[in-house]
Amino acid sequence: MKKFLCAASLCLCSAVICAALALAADGKALFGKCAGCHGADGSKKTMGDGTPIKGMAAAKVAASLEGYKAKTFGGPKKVIMEGQTANLSSEDIKALADYIATF
Ligand code: HEC
Repeated sequence: MKKFLCAASLCLCSAVICAALALAADGKALFGKCAGCHGADGSKKTMGDGTPIKGMAAAKVAASLEGYKAKTFGGPKKVIMEGQTANLSSEDIKALADYIATF
């Protein structure tokens, strides 16, 4: 029994680690199509007010992306981001937000 529990918890642990790694990789892959405008590290000044996305907290990035997707958020150039976010799932947005927050 002890042995079984040990093996089971080991399995669970590696599954969690794998899931975390997959998410991180996902965010990076998804950001590929964003880098052209925002820069590989998010430091390009794409927004009208000159604020780069580099340095933004994950929660702020996720809120902005969800807002663009729902067409309830944005500045003068929001149409561009509405197109970028239209096909993103909530998981994609979370992965992107977590990745962008590491810049
Ligand atoms: C074609 C150029 C272009 C691409 C590609 C692009 N963006 Fe943007 N992004 C912009 C512009 C322009 C704005 C400012 C829009 C506005 O006026 O609201 C913006 C705004 C943002 C914001 C809002 C920041 C804030 O002020 O809250 C985030 C976050 C963001 N982009 C993330 C992304 C992500 C993630 C991707 C890839 C899925 C992406 N962008 C792809 C041009 C682009």
